[in-house]
Amino acid sequence: MTATEAFDLIGRVAIVTGASRGIGRAIAASYALAGAKVMLASRRQESLDEVAREIGEAGGDAAGIAAHNGDKQALQSLVQATIARFGRLDILVNNAATNPHFGTILEADDSYWRKTIDVNLMGNVWLTQAAVEQMRAGGGGKIINVASIVGLNPGRYQGIYSVTKAGVISLTKTLATELGPDNIQVNAIAPGLVKTKFAQALWANEDLLAQVLARTPVGRIGQPDDMAGIALFLASSASDYTTGAVFVLDGGVTANSI
Ligand SMILES: NC(=O)c1ccc[n+]([C@@H]2O[C@H](COP(=O)([O-])OP(=O)(O)OC[C@H]3O[C@@H](n4cnc5c(N)ncnc54)[C@H](OP(=O)(O)O)[C@@H]3O)[C@@H](O)[C@H]2O)c1
Repeated sequence: MTATEAFDLIGRVAIVTGASRGIGRAIAASYALAGAKVMLASRRQESLDEVAREIGEAGGDAAGIAAHNGDKQALQSLVQATIARFGRLDILVNNAATNPHFGTILEADDSYWRKTIDVNLMGNVWLTQAAVEQMRAGGGGKIINVASIVGLNPGRYQGIYSVTKAGVISLTKTLATELGPDNIQVNAIAPGLVKTKFAQALWANEDLLAQVLARTPVGRIGQPDDMAGIALFLASSASDYTTGAVFVLDGGVTANSI
């Protein structure tokens, strides 16, 4: 097998949640460039149509379906729509997430816990349940969960979000063990700070940004495209022996004890 064959996604079909912008959009575009047909999901149909159009103009094949990641039925419909449109499902990227509460966990209202757990954790479980049925029928698959480095060590005042991202890491390892016999590999990506709308409160604040950069060996924060290479590896045949792993992409922050 050549290097190109090992990494290409020709003939594969992928679902990417949170694909209307940021990390999900970069991953979806890289999959389309590698030959996959891509179903894009997020809450807003117009944004998805725009990304699908851009991918089409670049020579790829993508479509979008609006689905809230906290809505089990919408996620089941997303899988059905993917099968109806593209005929199979090989790759699932659980990327959509929310972080509505900034503060200590003991003072947080239950509604913040429920929303964050539903969108960041249960949504991934529900979509995985529906996707695995199709992957089993197709003889295997790849699941890539987008966690965070705060799932390894909690982010200050981001406790609820951190708990759910730790859950995403544990979910990844659990699913990897349960789905190994089905030829479905399950891995997680744990980004550090990436310049997206989601993290704008952090990188747009000069003092906070300076603190992060002081701890970042590569001297810059991440860009969405920095996440695409590993996501491509984890979706391709090149990763067939890789499962239950967590890939940290943080410019060296986690490794830096100085
Ligand atoms: N940026 C960072 O520094 C960073 C660091 C570590 C981990 N992450 C993780 O990376 C992933 C992507 O975040 P990002 O930084 O790329 O953020 P982003 O650019 O703001 O994109 C978030 C995406 O998720 C969608 N989304 C938000 N809430 C949703 C919901 N309830 N249901 C369905 N879709 C929803 C958004 O579209 P709609 O608004 O149209 O729904 C959008 O497509 C998340 O899992 C996040 O936790 C990010």
